[in-house]
Amino acid sequence: MTKDGTDLVRSQFGASAAAYATSDVHAKGESLARIVELARPQRHWQGLDVATGAGHMAAAFAPHLANIIASDITDEMLGEAAKLAADRNLANVSTAKAEAGALPFDDARFDLVCCRLAAHHFPDLRCFIAEVRRVLKAGGRFALVDNVAPDAQQLPDASQSDIADTAAAYNAFEKLRDPSHGLAPPPETWISLLTDAGFRIVAREQFGKELDFSSWVTRMRCAPDTITELRRILTSGPSNLRTFLQPRTDQDGELHFSLQELLIVADKTA
Ligand SMILES: C[S@@+](CC[C@H](N)C(=O)[O-])C[C@H]1O[C@@H](n2cnc3c(N)ncnc32)[C@H](O)[C@@H]1O
Repeated sequence: MTKDGTDLVRSQFGASAAAYATSDVHAKGESLARIVELARPQRHWQGLDVATGAGHMAAAFAPHLANIIASDITDEMLGEAAKLAADRNLANVSTAKAEAGALPFDDARFDLVCCRLAAHHFPDLRCFIAEVRRVLKAGGRFALVDNVAPDAQQLPDASQSDIADTAAAYNAFEKLRDPSHGLAPPPETWISLLTDAGFRIVAREQFGKELDFSSWVTRMRCAPDTITELRRILTSGPSNLRTFLQPRTDQDGELHFSLQELLIVADKTA
């Protein structure tokens, strides 16, 4: 990863670490329990959580594994992850500083690698997947959760080129809110990247999650002009993007919208 990219992630997330510890989407999101179920962890397994943030995924897996390393590139996030593990008496969680594209672990060390709501920040998904494969034992398991861009399922009436434009507009919308956002590809891109890299898909699910606009922008400390522009995009931006994001205002006047989360469990093939 470039120095600039690393610095951007650290400055965005370093200042927001405490907000991620308490964020409902991260601490209680539906994907947290579901990915643990789908991954079917075993008590003797050694695990690694990549880009752990405030440690919610590592804490969810910890009771089902021998141990798990909660890793991240941002020191403040590692502090939050250690605090969460201590608060929950999870003695089998340790923390380590690690960049997703150059994991500082031996080959074939882990039975399980997981990564939730973070890969869209990584500068090179192929490099990340190759690193996951390298540190997994033969037959080891990768459990991924991330936001994805729209595809024909979300936009059944749109042409392929309109879908591609909407995927680009969605990523631009995310990047406006968080400059350290890289790329959230559509689901089929994840499937191709994983199968091309030597993984066999064993489970795949996708669902919409509701976001509260005001918490979403506050968590990333967006400037007032940015908030105005993000709100404008949601309320009067491109129609396909609004079909995908489903903006709606509740009775109290609060703006909400939806994102799509993809869950994949994939095993390392020989
Ligand atoms: C939204 S948070 C992660 C949420 C967390 N996994 C969860 O399930 O609640 C994104 C995290 O990705 C980390 N991150 C971003 N780019 C990274 C990279 N290249 N290598 C390692 N961590 C990275 C950030 O420091 C941040 O803590």
